[in-house]
Amino acid sequence: MNTTISIQMEKISKIYSTKDIETHALTQIDLTINKGDFISISGPSGCGKSTLLSILGLLDSPTQGSYIIEGEDVSQLSVDSRAHIRNQKIGFVFQSFNLIDELSVYENVALPLRYREPEISESDINKAVSLALKNVDMAHRMTHKPNQLSGGQQQRIAIARALVGEPAILLVDEPTGNLDSQNGDAVMRLLKSLNRAGTTICMVTHDPRYAEFAEKRLHLLDGVISQSGFSNKLVQEVG
Ligand SMILES: Nc1ncnc2c1ncn2[C@@H]1O[C@H](COP(=O)(O)OP(=O)(O)O)[C@@H](O)[C@H]1O
Ligand SMILES: [Mg+2]
Repeated sequence: MNTTISIQMEKISKIYSTKDIETHALTQIDLTINKGDFISISGPSGCGKSTLLSILGLLDSPTQGSYIIEGEDVSQLSVDSRAHIRNQKIGFVFQSFNLIDELSVYENVALPLRYREPEISESDINKAVSLALKNVDMAHRMTHKPNQLSGGQQQRIAIARALVGEPAILLVDEPTGNLDSQNGDAVMRLLKSLNRAGTTICMVTHDPRYAEFAEKRLHLLDGVISQSGFSNKLVQEVG
């Protein structure tokens, strides 16, 4: 196994079939993500961004093609095996935070670890949650409930929850969509600094300014990668 590759997709296609129509959402996508990459995916509405992210995140499986995560072929798994590997290897951050309002910040972040097998001890959960919250600068809000926090703070908690289990990749869907520009910029700076510290990130965004944070940028058009660009320059800090 090549230890620098996190994710390798070859000729991934996705066709949604309903009674009368077939939608070719993705056609023969090749995508390699190396450890430490920061990749952005942009493109117009309906071009296949969410479909690609759900296949990357093992929420859905491709119609055709091969998909390998950290050396393991996950192209055609049962729903149960997919859920198991998703819990071990994938961290998700959504536009809408998706935190549980009844749980404290601490318990929200601990949640992915509570589904792990074999079971993780309470003291190891405590260490991991404390570190994850420290990494997003939210250790001082452990006992708060999500609705007692600003949108930007809630997104930081969602990022801590996504990273607490040390996933192979962080998948991020429009992370700033529900934030004002100041909080959006702060979340993007956090993602950039997490990436510099080693986190592998794949982010969907329609905002060209935020796509600039990624060093590899993909553009999708009608389910096909129409353009990809690399940038080695250091991204200017926004704000
Ligand atoms: N569950 C589904 N069933 C049928 N068609 C779908 C489904 N999900 C998405 N599609 C279609 O697949 C295409 C890509 O959708 P999507 O991945 O959501 O695009 P984007 O996220 O770029 O807006 C669109 O034409 C959409 O209508
Ligand atoms: Mg979408």
